[in-house]
Amino acid sequence: MLVNLQTILKDAYEKGYAVPAFNVYNMETVKGVIEAAEEKRSPVIMQFYSRLATTGVSDYLLPVMLAAANKATVPVCIHLDHGSGFPAAAIAVRNGASGIMVDFSTLPLEENIANTEKAVKLCAALGIGVEGEIGHIGSAAEGVSEDYTTVEEATEFVKRTGVSALAIMVGTAHGRYKKAPKLAIERIREIRNAVKTPLVLHGGSGVPDDLIKAAINAGICKINFGTDLCYSFLDAVFAVDRKIYAIDLFMKEPIEAVKKFALGKIELLGSEGRV
Ligand code: 13P
Repeated sequence: MLVNLQTILKDAYEKGYAVPAFNVYNMETVKGVIEAAEEKRSPVIMQFYSRLATTGVSDYLLPVMLAAANKATVPVCIHLDHGSGFPAAAIAVRNGASGIMVDFSTLPLEENIANTEKAVKLCAALGIGVEGEIGHIGSAAEGVSEDYTTVEEATEFVKRTGVSALAIMVGTAHGRYKKAPKLAIERIREIRNAVKTPLVLHGGSGVPDDLIKAAINAGICKINFGTDLCYSFLDAVFAVDRKIYAIDLFMKEPIEAVKKFALGKIELLGSEGRV
């Protein structure tokens, strides 16, 4: 069943586990994720990058995601990831998203707050929770910044914007890490103690299991996985026997690979058996 962002994160926040948020791109990645969530009785967030909204892909993808969510017997949130601005958020809402992230983290703090607050107010009228970002989580290719989100920034941001989820910069980045990431676990704990809003860890791909567990223990409630899901799918595509040309049959193994990837992360995040 389709649920909104604030609903899916509430249980995780109260019980101390994290909901996996998988970036999906097509029907096959949606299928792999949903099959894993159903098998493990886990809530799940399926999210799509802003580019898919602004290039029109989400006009096709969101109906598929909605069909999967409505058919599922576990809670599913359909979430815009790193919304680049109000146009992307509007398209995502029109397409049926039940969660919206707006990412104004590269703007000065006051502008980030003002824009995020505006998105929160607009989405509140529709019952849709908003994820904001404070401290910029960049790409691993450019090196991981140590400019961690401070307790003061997080407190101010949450108080003034009213976001339903807060992405913080605590040592992760998007994409493949050049060297093993270090996570600011104590900073997560301090922010968790200061703000009563579910915290989000971006850049989950390549973060060692023990650090993921420590982050959840310190207060993270949503963890994003993009890059490694893509590779699980693409590696399987390249391995399929080229004699298979019926596309539905060709895609069986790639779907299985995504499912296997998602099953592992669900176990790791402790979201298994929660529904
Ligand atoms: P990775 O691609 O590094 O897993 O990050 C995903 C993410 O954080 C999406 O917002």
